[in-house]
Amino acid sequence: MIRRILTYPDPELKKKSAPVTIINEKITELVRDMAETMYDAPGVGLAAPQIGVHQRVIVIDISPKGEKPDLIVAINPVIIHTEGNSYEEEGCLSVPQYGASVKRHASVVVKALNLAGEEVTYRADGLLAIAFQHELDHLDGILFVDHLSPLKKDIFKKKYRQLVEQSRVGE
Ligand code: NI
Repeated sequence: MIRRILTYPDPELKKKSAPVTIINEKITELVRDMAETMYDAPGVGLAAPQIGVHQRVIVIDISPKGEKPDLIVAINPVIIHTEGNSYEEEGCLSVPQYGASVKRHASVVVKALNLAGEEVTYRADGLLAIAFQHELDHLDGILFVDHLSPLKKDIFKKKYRQLVEQSRVGE
């Protein structure tokens, strides 16, 4: 089922998510809905709090459009190692029509559980490393725009308000 994606400044997006304690049918269903919602949007990643579920679950698929899907499901993900720096433009399904460059680690090692409850380790760089950091942030109530300098965040807020008003006029 495609769920509604919450958008900034919804306060639900600022809440910290709780670890998954048991991987049951509910979690399987949540992951299925999250993947469906992400592919429909379309986006390269989605975190459970973006659909209003405050559990530490993320889905990512960075495979190029038109190619075979390559879905990553990470439950209770933790970054255990980071290296280097990157500064790339990001966007977010919860902050539609806005993009900005954000400072991240260039590569990360992430430990998580898969849907079978097995521990999986991902060594990621490039877009996948950024996607992991971006989605993990969501689990702690952090949006990519929260990484902007105070001045840039101010500009974002003004620009975003205008964008929202414009899109309302168009409705
Ligand atoms: Ni996002």
